[in-house]
Amino acid sequence: LRIARASELARGDALVFSYPEDGDDCMVVRTADGELVAYRQQCTHLSCAVVYSREHDRLDCPCHDGAFSVRTGAVLFGPPPRPLPQILLEQRGDEIWAIGPAPTEES
Ligand code: FES
Repeated sequence: LRIARASELARGDALVFSYPEDGDDCMVVRTADGELVAYRQQCTHLSCAVVYSREHDRLDCPCHDGAFSVRTGAVLFGPPPRPLPQILLEQRGDEIWAIGPAPTEES
């Protein structure tokens, strides 16, 4: 699925998209060091929507003060029991494509 144009995402920008189905909210982020990453937006604790904190360059869950690494999706602190599922991206020219779920350590 084509999700965005790379040139539209400056460092610290985030964009929500649906993948793989409508209503499956995911988020693509251009991190402070310029890397493009994408995750499911649903917190692994109680499914609140996670948001990108530009200030801390991490993914925050406002519901119960959880936080995830923007680079790996790993839990940094708070109640979430598992990392945030990552979505694999591929850049084709200026287009960013979501190409599938990243393999998890458990699988
Ligand atoms: Fe995210 Fe509770 S739902 S920390």
